[in-house]
Amino acid sequence: MKIGNVNIDGFCALAPMAGVADISFRVLCKEFGAAYTVGEMVSAKGVSMNDKKSKDLMQIDSSEHPSAIQIFGNDPEVMAEAAKYALSFSPDIIDINMGCPAPKIVKNKSGSVLMKNPDLAGRITRAVVNAVDIPVTVKFRTGWDSLSINCVEFAKIIEESGAAAITIHGRTKEQMYAPPVDIDSIKAVKNAVSIPVIGNGDIFTPEDAKNMYEITGCDLIMVGRGSLGRPWLFSQINEYLSSGIYSPDPTPEERMNIMLRHAENICKIRGIKNGMCEIRKHALWYTKGLKGSAKLRNEFSIVKTFDELKLLAEKVTEIKD
Ligand SMILES: Cc1cc2nc3c(=O)[nH]c(=O)nc-3n(C[C@H](O)[C@H](O)[C@H](O)COP(=O)(O)O)c2cc1C
Repeated sequence: MKIGNVNIDGFCALAPMAGVADISFRVLCKEFGAAYTVGEMVSAKGVSMNDKKSKDLMQIDSSEHPSAIQIFGNDPEVMAEAAKYALSFSPDIIDINMGCPAPKIVKNKSGSVLMKNPDLAGRITRAVVNAVDIPVTVKFRTGWDSLSINCVEFAKIIEESGAAAITIHGRTKEQMYAPPVDIDSIKAVKNAVSIPVIGNGDIFTPEDAKNMYEITGCDLIMVGRGSLGRPWLFSQINEYLSSGIYSPDPTPEERMNIMLRHAENICKIRGIKNGMCEIRKHALWYTKGLKGSAKLRNEFSIVKTFDELKLLAEKVTEIKD
């Protein structure tokens, strides 16, 4: 499929995940066949105030392309300026976050609260589209709550405002991450617009991926939490959707090697101290469900050095019945 003039080869994109899907994780997912990656959300206001952390979040690895930088905010001009600034990091696409349910984002009248104000959402989209010469996409939910599901009308406004594609997470803001995903609303959005629609929500297996495509008719799917500790899910989805079968999960030893590679990359980018803090949550995901790993959870959650992590990884692979 294509988003504007950008070719997306493959079946499944990696969702933006603040605090989780940094460069090191995105590069790993790309290696395993993610068709497209979206960076962690960046505050447009932060960029306007020259905040270093906001700007650092815009980094893209050269191996990641096609890749988007995602921005959030509520002021069309500030958003347009942030999008222009983002171009210096060479993204293929600018994505606008209109789905985040986090209280601190919503309180700042950004993210999912924009679904309550489609007129402003349209003006933000138009301003960003006019500011940059690359495709602009918008990610949103089904609506604010179950009594105000407005994703179809919202999608039409976003399309009219010049967006090249939309991503819809099939939940309301009120639902946060609670089941179920409203797959019918994703289908309704797909039927209502002519720009590409990316379906998102609760894809944890290759079978879930197939269902999302078949039921909604969407143009691409996007996986978030299903890839945590399991970046190989992308290759399993690609295999399943192209051949009907897919490889088993990696062995415990292979998983631990993937985790160590991830850790090495995080440490290269963030330094050992911050990198080891970051890898702790990933380590818990990588070892989830592995025989005997529950006993090691506490140790993983306080690991401080790469050698300690390596030792724990060895312990995991040595666990026998
Ligand atoms: C830890 C975490 C961080 C997230 N950060 C973002 C974000 O920065 N921008 C965004 O649009 N969505 C964000 N999301 C939402 C995901 O992109 C995705 O829409 C959601 O998790 C549903 O997909 P899933 O069921 O495959 O996880 C985040 C989700 C999680 C779990």
